[in-house]
Amino acid sequence: MTGRDWARWLRWSVHLAALLLVTALAWAFWQQRLGPDSIGEITRRTGRYALVMLLLSLTVTPIATLGKFKRILPVRRTLGLYAFWFSLLHLLAFAGLDFAFDFKLILGTARQGNRVLAGLATLVVLLPLALTSTDAWRKRLGRHWKHLHRLAYLAAALDVLHYGLNFKEFRTAPVLATVALILLLIARIPAVSRRLRQA
Ligand code: HEM
Repeated sequence: MTGRDWARWLRWSVHLAALLLVTALAWAFWQQRLGPDSIGEITRRTGRYALVMLLLSLTVTPIATLGKFKRILPVRRTLGLYAFWFSLLHLLAFAGLDFAFDFKLILGTARQGNRVLAGLATLVVLLPLALTSTDAWRKRLGRHWKHLHRLAYLAAALDVLHYGLNFKEFRTAPVLATVALILLLIARIPAVSRRLRQA
């Protein structure tokens, strides 16, 4: 298979995975299999899907560098966009299903802690990335596009913080997400990525 075939195959796999996740969630909701707090479960699951898509989007570059198949790089955009769409679904579940878009109530919750603020900050950072993800914007912004899209790491850091702030007791998953992000950041250090390219 050529690099281009790999990219196409991976992109379709991401579309299929996203479709399966949304369908399974809608089906479980319809079947009332999400437990007593079904809205909370939808919020948590869509949040998790967004985080996984975001972290996966950041693994594409190191994998492409290590495996020397640059053709898979477009998959980054697909994964990043799904991170954004799942974040929107997550926000919609939180603000719409949980609070019936009562913004006074939502602001009251936001004031209670940094958790919601960290989530909001993640979404604010993801928004310009999603809006400028097209080829036309890439051309228009030139080299600034690359600089702008490095904000994906800031979004991931804010998201990992948001994830961690959800728990008062020790949980393995947020620690794993933090370790994954730190490794991805290390892989971006020029000396390390040079080493990876030579390996
Ligand atoms: C305005 C933006 C956001 C708000 C108001 C928000 C709010 C929330 C709330 C209330 C929860 C806890 C749900 C519960 O326990 O019932 C939560 C969990 C979570 N959120 Fe967000 N969030 C926002 C943005 C984001 C974004 C952008 C991401 C990912 C890219 C994200 C990822 C997560 C994750 C991973 C969890 C934990 C899920 C779990 O418990 O396993 N959130 N969020």
